[in-house]
Amino acid sequence: MKTVLAVSLALAAASALFTLPALSADKAAAKSAPQANPDASPIYGVTIPKGYRQWEFVAPALEKEPLNELRTVVGNKIAMDAYKKGKLPFPDGSILVKLAYKYTQSPDFESALVPDHPTTVQVMVKDSKKYAASGGWGYGRFINGKPVDEAQHQTCFACHAARVKDRDYVFTRLAP
Ligand code: HEC
Repeated sequence: MKTVLAVSLALAAASALFTLPALSADKAAAKSAPQANPDASPIYGVTIPKGYRQWEFVAPALEKEPLNELRTVVGNKIAMDAYKKGKLPFPDGSILVKLAYKYTQSPDFESALVPDHPTTVQVMVKDSKKYAASGGWGYGRFINGKPVDEAQHQTCFACHAARVKDRDYVFTRLAP
């Protein structure tokens, strides 16, 4: 009887040892899933890249009625090298960020329109395998640092694909 008890105790201890690591592996998997990160965009899992304010300038844009926005696109080094060489498609690792602001009359000069409050930060990340279903680009639109809803993210690829598929889905050309 004693032996039976000892054996079953040993078995219980052994099974506890084996189930514990399995549980924590499950937890780790849940953490790394894109939906689990509140700062990542739905569908694509794109986040705002660190240090993008230090990136090189691609071009400005002025968006007329009804949005009335000033925009600036910047790119990381991989994207800028491709732009400068006129290389398409953009290589994996390319990232483009568009900063958008409402504009307002300059208080200092009549003909000048200057940035008002920021509206969105939008991101495109090139990973031809991960984002094969959307032309190789992952998309993210952020307001106050937080991603907007899934419905908005469903519109990104369709519009870029309809208009600029032949330029690797990128609208903005490198400004001289
Ligand atoms: C109805 C069309 C349309 C939709 C939808 C759209 N875009 Fe764009 N996007 C543009 C245009 C036009 C530009 C060129 C710059 C500008 O005028 O703002 C642009 C530029 C960009 C850029 C800079 C790189 C480039 O292609 O010039 C990024 C990044 C971007 N969009 C991300 C997004 C994301 C993320 C979404 C979805 C949440 C999205 N876009 C949805 C039209 C669209």
